[in-house]
Amino acid sequence: MAPSAVSPQSSPSDPTLPFISLAPLLSYDPSATPRAAASLLSALKTSGFLYLTDSPIPPSLLSRVYALSAEFFARAAAEKAALAWTTPRANRGYSGMGMEKTSLGLSKEEVSQERRGEEGEDQKESFEIGRDDEDGCPNRWPQNDGDPGFKATMLDFFERCKRLHATVMQAIALALGLESSFFADYVRRGDNTLRLLHYPAVPAGAFSGGRVRAGLHSDYGSITLLFQDGRGGLQVEKRGGGFVDVTPVAGTIVMNAGDLLARWSNGLVQSTRHRVVEPPPPLWGKGKEEREQENRDQDVWYPPRYSVAYFCNPDFDRVIEALPGTWEGREGGKLWEAINSGAYLEQRLSATY
Ligand code: NI
Repeated sequence: MAPSAVSPQSSPSDPTLPFISLAPLLSYDPSATPRAAASLLSALKTSGFLYLTDSPIPPSLLSRVYALSAEFFARAAAEKAALAWTTPRANRGYSGMGMEKTSLGLSKEEVSQERRGEEGEDQKESFEIGRDDEDGCPNRWPQNDGDPGFKATMLDFFERCKRLHATVMQAIALALGLESSFFADYVRRGDNTLRLLHYPAVPAGAFSGGRVRAGLHSDYGSITLLFQDGRGGLQVEKRGGGFVDVTPVAGTIVMNAGDLLARWSNGLVQSTRHRVVEPPPPLWGKGKEEREQENRDQDVWYPPRYSVAYFCNPDFDRVIEALPGTWEGREGGKLWEAINSGAYLEQRLSATY
């Protein structure tokens, strides 16, 4: 059995990410739901990344989340610092530039080595929101007098994403041949994290020498739901090497599997590595080098990128071990030892902050 700190990581063999409609999964239509569930699981097995269409999140709510996010990050540094992220256990609040380094490293030492390496510090700031009723871990709410305000909007969005997580897990259960309610007791509390992300505008030279907006990493939990603006820059690692762009597609949610789901499924599902790099350049229609030189000469800046990530986790009091049907009679049996969901997340966050 592998030590508990080792995380399953893989990459897609097919550069084209699949599109999966949520409509049959939300409607519970016995004639369509099983097939859609099978497609979802198949996508998680082969690429680990996919686009969800027919989102149940109202576009007006998503627009409001983006607007409030931009408004928040535009505030004075001191105002944001007053809401600073404190501990991996709480995982709530504001992280300024350079505070977190997304990384493949599993220890503080490995991660600080990567901070000093080619990629450098992540060029991003973020704001984390957890469930609002966790004892000892209050959310850190900014003042906002709008209607609806920051808190009400984010909690509404949080709840809708929490329900979507339950829907996706129900589909995975169905596709694995488990009771459709198998994961119900794992997604009840919703120990998830809503993360607002801002990658500030940077001059064209900011990406020279392999520097990135967010370093290569895999996500930690069960699944991640990602809402991205039109800027681009997210890339997924391919199995044979190299990267494929996760091109922004309006109205879709990018979904990927995290390390805990890969462990839970005994390696059946891929937790694919990804990063945020130089977006498509501001000038088009020329050779890359010529374009880059021109951008530098003209003092071109890349516009900011905003995204909203919802990191789903099994409830923190639950123990995660290979699911029924994923290990019996297989060579190697259970590939990872059982682990507590909350302890696992805390351990991963401790390395990157
Ligand atoms: Ni990620």
